[in-house]
Amino acid sequence: MQDYDMELTMQAPVQEPERQYYFIEEAKKLIAEKSRMLGRPLTFCVTTFGCQMNARDSEKLTGILEQIGYVEAEEEQADFVIYNTCTVRENANLRVYGRLGYLHSLKKKNPHMMIGLCGCMMQEPQVVEKLKKSYSFVNLIFGTHNIYKFAELVVSALSSDRMVIDIWKDTDKIVEDLPSQRKFPFKSGVNIMFGCNNFCSYCIVPYVRGRERSRNPKDIIREIEHLVADGVVEVMLLGQNVNSYGKNLEEPMTFAQLLQEIEKIEGLKRIRFMTSHPKDLSDELIEVMKNSKKICRHLHLPLQSGSTEILKVMNRKYTKEQYLNLVKKIRTAIPDMSLTTDIIVGFPGETEEDFLETMDVVEQVRYDSAFTFIYSKRTGTPAAAMENQIPEEVVKDRFDRLLAKVQEIGREMSSRDTGTIQEVLVEEQNSQDTHLMTGRLSNNLLVHFPGDVSLLGQICQVRLDECRGFYYMGTNVSVNCNLKMNMSAQSTNLPTF
Ligand code: SAH
Ligand code: SF4
Ligand code: F3S
Repeated sequence: MQDYDMELTMQAPVQEPERQYYFIEEAKKLIAEKSRMLGRPLTFCVTTFGCQMNARDSEKLTGILEQIGYVEAEEEQADFVIYNTCTVRENANLRVYGRLGYLHSLKKKNPHMMIGLCGCMMQEPQVVEKLKKSYSFVNLIFGTHNIYKFAELVVSALSSDRMVIDIWKDTDKIVEDLPSQRKFPFKSGVNIMFGCNNFCSYCIVPYVRGRERSRNPKDIIREIEHLVADGVVEVMLLGQNVNSYGKNLEEPMTFAQLLQEIEKIEGLKRIRFMTSHPKDLSDELIEVMKNSKKICRHLHLPLQSGSTEILKVMNRKYTKEQYLNLVKKIRTAIPDMSLTTDIIVGFPGETEEDFLETMDVVEQVRYDSAFTFIYSKRTGTPAAAMENQIPEEVVKDRFDRLLAKVQEIGREMSSRDTGTIQEVLVEEQNSQDTHLMTGRLSNNLLVHFPGDVSLLGQICQVRLDECRGFYYMGTNVSVNCNLKMNMSAQSTNLPTF
């Protein structure tokens, strides 16, 4: 790392997280002084480019920035702009480079502006080289393994005129008990593990997130208990492959056992998790989900491809038949389980027959929804070196056919609860019609219904009156929940979403 204030570093405690709390205090002083000089508070804006894990990391960054005295800004005209990047597909990278140009123009107008880049893209050496060469206006670059050091890095960037870069190749460390600022008061993501050991041949995540590390169950439970005491009713347990949770712990524990412990936490109403790798989804987990009152009726079960041949080259470690059997087992045990998936089209060597196998699985499983991706070549992964890459127009044609099929089935599946009364967690006021509130069903679909902001964060009983594609319009019929309804909302023209 460059330009480090040695004196400050030597005084700081060596132990974590104490060391970071020391730097939070140091940063506070620097920010207070800067703010006095400018005669206004300093503002920040953190933008998340990636998955839920990336989003959770952004909450940690936000927590620290607020502690040290920055005030959150709505937009990127702020004094400290941070891009928390993703590199899972090429277009995620391109978006970052595109927007950096815009940030540069903002920085020319505000000489106090600092720009920080972090997240998965920064773990790629060629990205950092390019940034050093062509984006010298960036102040701070750090990676995924040392995000816990953010306070220390901010102090260092604030005291330096040059670009501060700190990237670690890997880590076996998990630092607990640092501040974080939740986006929603009533729900939160909770990391249960970091990294990935699966090395699917197309995927860059294991290279940028490092080896699989599970958090200690006691730390997870303690975090959730604190969250619940602070008003959280729903948690989303996060990991690249939650089904292999606990394997590397000193006292091994299965994901199903962890879920049972979390279920016991009083005041917690809903448990979600992602992502489940089909190869590790156990009968024990199905049994626990079946008997649980808190685990939501939604399972994201990435398929990637329906062709056993392609799955083999992808290194997914299951066949088409094993996947279909797993789905059958889940549906037999829990008939109302909603299933969603991820599918990649155009993996190297994918023939029309392979693609038709994928379509066949989609037709057999009948997903509620599916994220469909065009295969993206990621430098350094085994698939990127494969010779039989598929021509763009062939991929596009398959992608369109798959998307049409997924949407047709998704619409039919989504409407299956029309007329029933379901529990929803009220998450938002509708931005287009403020008479409407938006709630999330256990199966992850959204319902819009007349109500007001007093319902936010509550679990209400809502009748699903009409399905409009992938969401419902409904009516709040709860006895306990605040029943104040603005009747005029029912007679106005409801917007289309
Ligand atoms: N750990 C999760 C997925 C994380 S990445 C799992 O195994 O399910 C999210 C999704 O991005 C993947 O499921 C895959 O469908 C997609 N993806 C990953 N690498 C990709 C690539 N090189 N090109 C296109 N899609 C990709
Ligand atoms: Fe990537 Fe596979 Fe790991 Fe998921 S399980 S993050 S797709 S390597
Ligand atoms: Fe992207 Fe990193 Fe998540 S590459 S999908 S932000 S783990």
